Amino acid sequence: MQANDHRPAAPLRGWGRSAVAAVGLVSVVAGGLTYAATSAGAADLPETFLGDTTTWTYSDDNTDPAAGNADRLTWTRAGFDDSGWKHATGPFGAKNGSPTPDLGSGFPVTTVLDHYVDPTASTKVAIPTYHLRTTFDLTADQLADITSLRGDVTFDDAVQVFVNGTKVAGFVDERVEAVPDAQKNLTYAGASAGNPVNQKFSVPADVLEPGVNTLAIGLYNDRASSSDVYLDLASLVPVEVPEEEPTTTVTDLVLGIGANQAERNLAWYSDQDTEQVAQIAPAGEVVNGVFPDDAVSVAATGGPSSSGEFYRHATFTGLEENTAYSYRVGTEGAAGAEGAWSAVSTFRTQAFDGDFNFLFFGDPQLGSSGNVPRDTEGWVDTLDVATAAYPDAEMLFSAGDQVESASSEAQYDAFLSTDHLRQIPFVATNGNHDVGNKAYRQHFNTPNLDETAGPGSGSSSGGDYWFVYNDVLFLNLNSNSRDYASHERFVRETVAEHGDEAKWKVVSFHHSIYSVGPHATDSDVIDRRNTWPTLFSELGIDLVLQGHDHSYARSYLIRNGEKADPAEEAGADILTPGPGGVLYVTANSASGSKYYSANAAGSWWLSAFNQENVRNYTAVEVADDAISVRTIRSEAKDADRPVNSVVDQVTIAKPVDPNTQKLQVVVPQGAPGEFVWSIDGANTLVDLGTAEAAGDHYAADGSINPIRVTDTRRGGPQWSLSAQVGDFTSGDQSFSGKYLGWTPDVIEAGGGSVAGAKIATGFDGGPGLSQSATLGRAGAGHTTGSALFGADLDLKIPVDVTDGTYRATLTLTALS
Ligand SMILES: [Fe+2]
Repeated sequence: MQANDHRPAAPLRGWGRSAVAAVGLVSVVAGGLTYAATSAGAADLPETFLGDTTTWTYSDDNTDPAAGNADRLTWTRAGFDDSGWKHATGPFGAKNGSPTPDLGSGFPVTTVLDHYVDPTASTKVAIPTYHLRTTFDLTADQLADITSLRGDVTFDDAVQVFVNGTKVAGFVDERVEAVPDAQKNLTYAGASAGNPVNQKFSVPADVLEPGVNTLAIGLYNDRASSSDVYLDLASLVPVEVPEEEPTTTVTDLVLGIGANQAERNLAWYSDQDTEQVAQIAPAGEVVNGVFPDDAVSVAATGGPSSSGEFYRHATFTGLEENTAYSYRVGTEGAAGAEGAWSAVSTFRTQAFDGDFNFLFFGDPQLGSSGNVPRDTEGWVDTLDVATAAYPDAEMLFSAGDQVESASSEAQYDAFLSTDHLRQIPFVATNGNHDVGNKAYRQHFNTPNLDETAGPGSGSSSGGDYWFVYNDVLFLNLNSNSRDYASHERFVRETVAEHGDEAKWKVVSFHHSIYSVGPHATDSDVIDRRNTWPTLFSELGIDLVLQGHDHSYARSYLIRNGEKADPAEEAGADILTPGPGGVLYVTANSASGSKYYSANAAGSWWLSAFNQENVRNYTAVEVADDAISVRTIRSEAKDADRPVNSVVDQVTIAKPVDPNTQKLQVVVPQGAPGEFVWSIDGANTLVDLGTAEAAGDHYAADGSINPIRVTDTRRGGPQWSLSAQVGDFTSGDQSFSGKYLGWTPDVIEAGGGSVAGAKIATGFDGGPGLSQSATLGRAGAGHTTGSALFGADLDLKIPVDVTDGTYRATLTLTALS
């Protein structure tokens, strides 16, 4: 009789905030773009340049067309005077001087050649050599598209073929080549081989010319008594330049935010102006970098970049929630070919509604310190730190000034060097260091772009854009432009059309209007400060995210350009904005490339600020009823202010019903964790041996295979591990699992674990382990750690049970 515990196929993992996303079905729809059906620039090519309808000029009168000329090939070139020659179409032939020569089936004769030098002579002498000429036209485009022409010639007894004076073929013509030049045009050659012979030949493109080309043939009888002669140039077929395997090299790939949570925008650069696509499939279907046949390809748009490369933009639409996708961009090869692709990247969508968080970064401005590698290191480290602390972050949101120099591809390359920007959608903002070149617009593909709002110029980047993400309307403004009228129109129209879709409205732009660095007193900043706040208050904007001043600043709630509530205390944790109250947050440097000293004097708007000259990031957590903005060091200031320590935190909460109270507690961010349980060591059969008679029952005992539970989840949520046994069976015999009882114990303590209560065998009444019973558990708030559980088993079997070897299954279940 044995109890056999049952282990699930895989331990339970990732309970809690970092729950693994479920796999969904893919339904990706190309973004309204279509492919061109033909490859650009291909010239039309005829099936053949010569054939049976070609008119030839020819001479069959036993004369040397180059007689008296030092160049024996003069008759094979353009410009030769063949006006005295005959004109006809092929095939040409002669047989014993017959007017209707029959050379056998397959060798029709359209034009009969004179056969003999003197047809009246008693001993007839065959004409040694015939000369034929024709021309064909070839355009420059056609010439560019071919490697050669392939000729098909049927002859008897020998031929030489010339194009533009160059010999391109000679068949059975050794005897021609053996005689002096002066005799080559009028000599016998070939072997008497019976039927005419078919051969193929090639005319290389380099002997061809755009325009008129001259093809000439010397046709030879093999001897004076030759009975026949034949020539059919059936075709001269263009051989196209093979479609080459694409070699486009892709760089600067960045995954951007899309118009909504089901879309992603992509941008990249390439070294060649080729047709390119972005290709996507569920990550599980991409094995070893090989995309499935039904992967979706979306055509890219784009053009020349300001750096002399080529930029491309594409959009993935129709994404499913809670799904991991793999994608790549590049050039699709011809059917069956590999193509030329970027490396494969992966991103995942999360729930399309409900709470989410994103990460906000101030002025990376790579190159600002004069040391691009150092700035890059800081930028990448901040992304590493922030995404490790917030593994579910759904955007990397920049306050602008991505680079120091708007036209520096070296700085863009450095900025985009981290794979984070291919895994989590990037939200770009146009800073004063970005605006001065089209590169910003070419590198970042932003959704719903309105280039008439906050416009740029012919050489600068401009435009406002918006998107809706999980019930938040985001409006991103090009604050380099102080065309307030166009900004206002954009904001009003967008809020009017999409404000109802959103629970929150967040504006972002580069030039902070409520900061404490030196820019706070710039005249252009004062101008914006005097202009925008009333608009934002009127339209119910909740939060404004900004940069430019390279220090952290948080405003009081601002209504119409004034402190909304005179009683609001500096640094208050929780704010409940009334109508028109807007929170303005300015981020410090994310890369450490540059810091400005903060000066709070005269800044009536200032609730909190910080300048420690260490890198920061800001985690923005969005819920239905509150947005929490937590600014965090990504670089240690000192022992008391380590990496991931909080600089400032504020929550804006929706106004609440006065008849209720809401409570809030801030739970400190812990490391992401998991809850795992498994059999410790081998999951061997638990053998209770042979039960022994004990009065009114049989008795057996043993112990389960120990089970290890590890719980490293933040916050220590409670859990329990339970077990239940089924009936013991042996063939068609069985008895109830209730006769099994146990006494759990903690073999190795840890993580606040305690053993479950003893469960008595049901022999004397009660359910025993036929009902679920707790093996071990930990209460809420327990410490992280690992524990090992065992249990002594106690089985009492009624004496009327038939003998046999019985087995049962113990099923373990974790709850949390
Ligand atoms: Fe700036």
